[in-house]
Amino acid sequence: MADKPHLNLVIIGHIDHGKSTMMGALLIKTGAVTDREARELEKIAKEFDRDSWSYAYVFDRLKEERQRGITIDLAFRKFETDSKYFTIIDAPGHRDFVKNMITGASQADAAVLVVSGKKGEMEVGLAANGQTREHAYLAQTLGVKQLVVAINKADVWEYDQDRFNECVENVSALLKTIGFRVGDIAFVPTSGLKGENLTEPCDSLKWYDGPTLIEAIDQFKLPEKPLDKPLRLPIQDAYRIKGTGVVPVGRVETGVLKKGDKIKIMPGGFEGEIRSIEMHHEEIPKAEPGDNVGFSIRGLNLDDVHRGDVLSHPDNPCTVITPNGNWTGQVIVIWHPTAVAQGYTPVVHTHTAQIAARFTALKKKLDQKTGAVIEDSPKFIKKNEAAIVQLSPIKKLCLEKYEEIPELGRFAIRDMGRTVAVGIVKDLETGA
Ligand code: GTP
Ligand code: MG
Repeated sequence: MADKPHLNLVIIGHIDHGKSTMMGALLIKTGAVTDREARELEKIAKEFDRDSWSYAYVFDRLKEERQRGITIDLAFRKFETDSKYFTIIDAPGHRDFVKNMITGASQADAAVLVVSGKKGEMEVGLAANGQTREHAYLAQTLGVKQLVVAINKADVWEYDQDRFNECVENVSALLKTIGFRVGDIAFVPTSGLKGENLTEPCDSLKWYDGPTLIEAIDQFKLPEKPLDKPLRLPIQDAYRIKGTGVVPVGRVETGVLKKGDKIKIMPGGFEGEIRSIEMHHEEIPKAEPGDNVGFSIRGLNLDDVHRGDVLSHPDNPCTVITPNGNWTGQVIVIWHPTAVAQGYTPVVHTHTAQIAARFTALKKKLDQKTGAVIEDSPKFIKKNEAAIVQLSPIKKLCLEKYEEIPELGRFAIRDMGRTVAVGIVKDLETGA
């Protein structure tokens, strides 16, 4: 498995559209989940009186998830095709857990958007407050450029070609507005529950001549690794491990981290030397973009490193914006009960950081499709409007211009448990 190129694949879409079930079925069909485990899960699903959820239980492992029949937290599983191996990141569709979905999407190279084609379900997901819409916006803004759309529950819409076309048309229209290149996207009819058109063509879908789900996934291109850029490694967490000391973990976004490197952790400023790097419990000499690693640094304490910090080399440390500084962002408002105005202070999510930030100015309202300026210094921005705004963090925040390091130049704005806006960093003043 380790010899094949690797891709992180996030599974997104509206609640109950069948994400976990489809991926569970795919893993069982490809043998990544053993028959024994599958039978065990069937038994557990019966005990919870949720027989039809047994495939979903491959990913839904928490008791609360199994009882409620929903995904809450991200779940990761590996699986391989002839040419690649994948880490599947199963995201929750429930709107209360969008922050987990954002974390998953920010780690992904590609996504499968699962859309139930069942009458009414496709429509609800695409509605103004639906998560098909919200997840698609977030995926695009978080830099997930490659997408496959599964039009799921084919058994319910009776493999009807007209219904399939209707779903494709509606989902395409949304994806086009968001900025996806719809011509490059495969739309695949599937039934996760029946395991149809996942790994082999399905007799009930004779009119369909496109790829199966696994073929579509296998066509994803490997992302180019930004090896020549300065090192940026956002910290996900740090643990104290007996005998080793404090071990921060995170994913290399850009650049290369080598054993023996001098490093600096921003915004705190701790400097030290990398003693060892570990990936999948094995020591490795260097880590490259896409690698999820843990590492140890001599003399590091838990106070020196936090989720949201960024590790870089001392000669080119990550940019830090202080509360005296600000950044200029281009944003799209996805949802707000009234309107966004100057002074509004929601939470900004970017790489692994979550920090409150204040809208210090609304500069321009833009036409979402053309980017042309519609209004200077607008008083408000409302749902579905695009704008250039200025934001100031209430605590120091690691951020970069999108143009220079896109991996650290995207952000989402959340409030009241929902995503209010997504955006990219056009410019910044550190305020230091
Ligand atoms: P969240 O993770 O909570 O967002 O939901 P999900 O998208 O992972 O959906 P899940 O896989 O938990 O499935 C929800 C329900 O839809 C379960 O009862 C499944 O059995 C059912 N379901 C999923 N796929 C299909 C399908 O292809 N056909 C039919 N008939 N039912 C399906
Ligand atoms: Mg699920």
